[in-house]
Amino acid sequence: MTSNVSHKIKKRSLANDVFITPLELAFKNICMIEDDNYVWYDPFMNSGSYFHQFPDNGKQHLWSEILENKDFFEFVGNPDVICSNPPYSCIDKVLKKSVELKPKYISYLIGQGNLTARRIEFMNVNGYYLQKIHMCKVFKWYGMSYIVVFKKGDGENVISFDRVIWRSDV
Ligand SMILES: C[S@@+](CC[C@H](N)C(=O)[O-])C[C@H]1O[C@@H](n2cnc3c(N)ncnc32)[C@H](O)[C@@H]1O
Repeated sequence: MTSNVSHKIKKRSLANDVFITPLELAFKNICMIEDDNYVWYDPFMNSGSYFHQFPDNGKQHLWSEILENKDFFEFVGNPDVICSNPPYSCIDKVLKKSVELKPKYISYLIGQGNLTARRIEFMNVNGYYLQKIHMCKVFKWYGMSYIVVFKKGDGENVISFDRVIWRSDV
């Protein structure tokens, strides 16, 4: 039986990108970055599981949420840390906008399949290196999830990769 319903994640409506992050997991993500009186930014705030747990360091932290008519892709500001759980349907666009903001850290909770060699390479070319990675499972979310922390500056990724398409038939 055929169906007109697309299961491709890129064709999903926005509503399907709304997954509430478990509070303790958001906190774990935040704790993977040592605060240094930073201005933190949660681009995809929704219930605020990240934003409301950012370090109480006297700084005015930042947020956006499309459902509140604050679009990350139109955000202008100078955060030191971007830390959130993004919509998985537009990860490339999210990473591109994130590096344009030039924070010290970019850290996201993403699906295991979202972390590709091409994306790590993109981050490297833009001066960010994968400093930490934490694998976890969220109830009812597809597959495993990763918390990734990219740090700006010289460095090395915590994992190695190549972009070769390896094959045994040539
Ligand atoms: C995975 S959820 C984040 C949930 C949040 N961490 C929480 O626990 O409540 C992703 C959120 O990004 C929002 N979003 C999608 N596109 C956006 C955009 N362009 N700008 C800002 N927010 C966006 C969605 O509405 C959704 O609330």
